[in-house]
Amino acid sequence: MTGADVPGRASPWAPLLAGLADAQTVPAFAALLAEQVMLVTDAHGVRVCLLPRPAPDAAPLTPLAECGRGLALCDAQLAQEVMGGVPRATRGMHGALRAGPLLLDVVGGRSGPLDDLQDLAPLLGLAFEGVQAREVRRGSGREQETVTRLVRRMGGSLDLAQLLSATAETAAQALGLDRAFVGLLNPDPATGSPGTRTGEVFTHGFDDDFSGGVGIGPASYERLFGRGEAIVYEHARDQGSRMAAGLAELNPETAIIAPLKVRGRPLGVLYVDSRRAVSVTEDDLWLVLSLAEQASLNIDNARLYADETRKRQSAEAMREVGNRLASSLHLGQTYEAVLERAAELFGSDACAVYELQPDGRTLTIRSAVGLSSEYVLRSRVKLGAGVVGRAVERAETVAVRDFVTEGPGGGSRYTRQLLAQGRYPFRGIVGLPLGVRGRVIGGLALYFERPLPLGAEELSLAGVFAAQSALAIENARLYEEEVRRERESAALLGMARLQDHEHEGPDLHETARLAVQAVNGERGLLWLAPDEAGDEEVGVHALTPTPEDVLALRAQLGRGPRRLTRRHTLEGSASALIVPVRSGQDTIGLLYVDHPGEESPSDRVLALSRAIADQVALSVTRSRLLRALERQEARYRQLAEGAHDLIIAADARGTVQYANPASLRLLGAIEGLNLHDLLRDPWLTDFQTAWRHCLDAPESGGRCDLRVEGLTRTLHLEVRLSSVSPGGGMLLVARDISELELLLGEINRRADEMERADERQLELRSFLSLFTQAQEEERGRISRELHDDTAQVLVAIGRRIDRLARDLNGDTRARADDIRADLNGAIEGVRRFARNLRPSVLDDLGLLPALEWLASQATTPTRLEIQGNERRLPPASELTLFRMVQEGLGNTDRHAQAHTAAIRVVFQGSEVTVTLTDDGVGFSPEQARRQAQAGHLGLTGMRERVLLAGGRLEVRSVPGEGSTLEFSLPG
Ligand SMILES: Nc1ncnc2c1ncn2[C@@H]1O[C@H](COP(=O)(O)OP(=O)(O)OP(=O)(O)O)[C@@H](O)[C@H]1O
Ligand SMILES: [Mg+2]
Repeated sequence: MTGADVPGRASPWAPLLAGLADAQTVPAFAALLAEQVMLVTDAHGVRVCLLPRPAPDAAPLTPLAECGRGLALCDAQLAQEVMGGVPRATRGMHGALRAGPLLLDVVGGRSGPLDDLQDLAPLLGLAFEGVQAREVRRGSGREQETVTRLVRRMGGSLDLAQLLSATAETAAQALGLDRAFVGLLNPDPATGSPGTRTGEVFTHGFDDDFSGGVGIGPASYERLFGRGEAIVYEHARDQGSRMAAGLAELNPETAIIAPLKVRGRPLGVLYVDSRRAVSVTEDDLWLVLSLAEQASLNIDNARLYADETRKRQSAEAMREVGNRLASSLHLGQTYEAVLERAAELFGSDACAVYELQPDGRTLTIRSAVGLSSEYVLRSRVKLGAGVVGRAVERAETVAVRDFVTEGPGGGSRYTRQLLAQGRYPFRGIVGLPLGVRGRVIGGLALYFERPLPLGAEELSLAGVFAAQSALAIENARLYEEEVRRERESAALLGMARLQDHEHEGPDLHETARLAVQAVNGERGLLWLAPDEAGDEEVGVHALTPTPEDVLALRAQLGRGPRRLTRRHTLEGSASALIVPVRSGQDTIGLLYVDHPGEESPSDRVLALSRAIADQVALSVTRSRLLRALERQEARYRQLAEGAHDLIIAADARGTVQYANPASLRLLGAIEGLNLHDLLRDPWLTDFQTAWRHCLDAPESGGRCDLRVEGLTRTLHLEVRLSSVSPGGGMLLVARDISELELLLGEINRRADEMERADERQLELRSFLSLFTQAQEEERGRISRELHDDTAQVLVAIGRRIDRLARDLNGDTRARADDIRADLNGAIEGVRRFARNLRPSVLDDLGLLPALEWLASQATTPTRLEIQGNERRLPPASELTLFRMVQEGLGNTDRHAQAHTAAIRVVFQGSEVTVTLTDDGVGFSPEQARRQAQAGHLGLTGMRERVLLAGGRLEVRSVPGEGSTLEFSLPG
């Protein structure tokens, strides 16, 4: 510690100290002290006494000076206490304070300044001793004058550099020599005690760049510091001696070296020399010794003062640190404050707060000053390793004077690497545990580029500082926790409040903002999948995502909240969280939050995000349900408005809340009226009965007749009543069925008519059937008659003509032959007619030969195909089929102009199907209808026949594409 470190004073005691430095005699010193203490402390009276030595109780006190009043109050016991070792004692108005060999009686006086004075007590004591010593050793006038002049000149300054330079200058000038310096002995690095070579120098008359000093051999050391003598060097005399070697650099002709020491402890030397040979007198030596003594006192004073100041500053600083730390409630600020104050208080080149990780085994740097960011990032210290690791593990201060040479090795791999490469930048390191309530939460490290400059006292101060810092950190942490909770609950509350806008649903941007706030994020996005009625919805906070961004995020959705790494976050953030918004089993959206500057979100934040997403889901589902309900209500209303039925809604007391237009048309304006009142209207009497019935058995229906005023007819209403729960209202649906009943009557009448028509048709059918049968029988009879009778008569006539012709010749024979030929033609004609009327082949051989015969008779070349098991059918069926084919082939011959025709008979299980096809001109249904109207009933007759026989007929023909007739009969 050098004088340069002592800051300026602002103490009320400063004038006192300045004045005391001037005091040349013990009485002057005591008088000034008494007067100043009176002045500064506002005391009634002050007395300064000299304590007897060595035994305090053996001899009486010697009063040196006093001023003020009330000194009779002086308490001998207090004085005894103070003399016995208590630095300060008070009783009532009276206090006693000890300063070295002095005792101060103070009557009255403010305690604050007295406290400060007490801090200065050692200094006062020493100053007094200095004056005493000076008085004892005061020599000739020149010496006294010189020293006094010097002391005056310095005016009580405590600036060591200034003091010592002035001492050197005074010494040189007083002796009339060229150069002088005060050199302080370097502390021995091994023991910390002063060594034998001067280090820091305060010069006069040397070149500016002179920074060397002198080495002091053992003999000179003994003379200087053991015996307190000044040494005179004369080049001419001492040339070649060890001393000459020690002074080689300075190379003086004459030099005087005097010791600087205080309380037997060597401090340095005052050196004065000349490049000329000068004779040195005894007086000169006294002068140098006096100046050296004065310089020693100055150094001692300054150091003590600096010590005191530093202690006071430390205490002050600690108090301030406490206040500052307690007032910085944010963790980040607290870390900053801790680091800043640590660097300031202990003069470290760098410092860092290490945080114990949740695993309880690793420490990482949470905040640092003066360390490279690589150091901060890569330092992962194992508990128990390195300086900080050991400090945290043992929960005690670990200080290493020189880490590079004597340290415990690096705590982290990174530190070890630096050490191995010789690139580790620090030497002195202190590790301090940060502990709160018996729990260590991390460590504070102080780094010095030089060997550790802190003494035991400063280290214990550092321990106190660390404890205070830990408390502040813990407080800030608790505070932040509190703030975070508050923020979370505020955000959640805000979200709950958003639900008030039930119908529009929550404002998504605001929801996104609140979610971001709740999890302490910076940017956020809320996406909702489209509901049945709408497009997808997006709410954002501090983000403008593209549709692709949203798609990419959707691809990242899992079942629960997740952290996203840089690859999957939106641009600009290294980590983020994503959580699905789920309604039951369905994912209806997503919430994304990131914080560009922050590390990956904690489990707690993830859990919180889930709660938020659930809240969002709840309010979105709710509003969507409400919207759906509204839509549905609108739909139902629309239905009710457009319905022909009467729809009336009444509340539990029967007041009509809603009546649809159909009701209003029929019953007038009934909204707001009570149904029970309505029912008392005479025209609603019947309705009332139904109503009562319905009231007794809700959910039931009834039918009633209503006579509505103004209408001449009676209304028939079908009424259904249902109770609407919850709320107990009632819904009435009534239908006017008067029209319906009219319609029903009409339908019944028509049905009767149809029935009657059917009966008539049936009669007609049976008549037709009988008629056809009779016709067929008639045809058979005529055919048989023609065949059996007429044809036989004609054959007999023919034979007679043949016999007659045998007797004729010539012309007559020829005419007879002609007659015979005509007759043969007639016989053939009769036979063919008889066959056509009723071919015997049908009765004799059955359907298929009869069809073969028909085919052979047709003009159009016709083939016959048979499929299935040939069998005989009932005669009626065979006759029907024959007649149908006969008519069909007749049509082909007459209308079709076909090249060929075909008859296909297919025998199936219980059915026979005949298909008649030709490749002729074909015809249209229209054509057939026209022909039928013109009296051509061939096709109509066929249809009737087949129907009578219980079969069916299908006619397929297109003009130009031939015709097909297909008919089936059972059999
Ligand atoms: N195979 C066919 N090819 C072309 N046209 C036909 C054929 N069969 C019926 N037609 C048309 O259908 C009309 C109705 O036939 P339908 O047998 O009912 O009467 P018609 O043969 O003209 O007279 P009718 O049979 O009473 O002697 C015919 O006039 C003819 O124009
Ligand atoms: Mg016909």
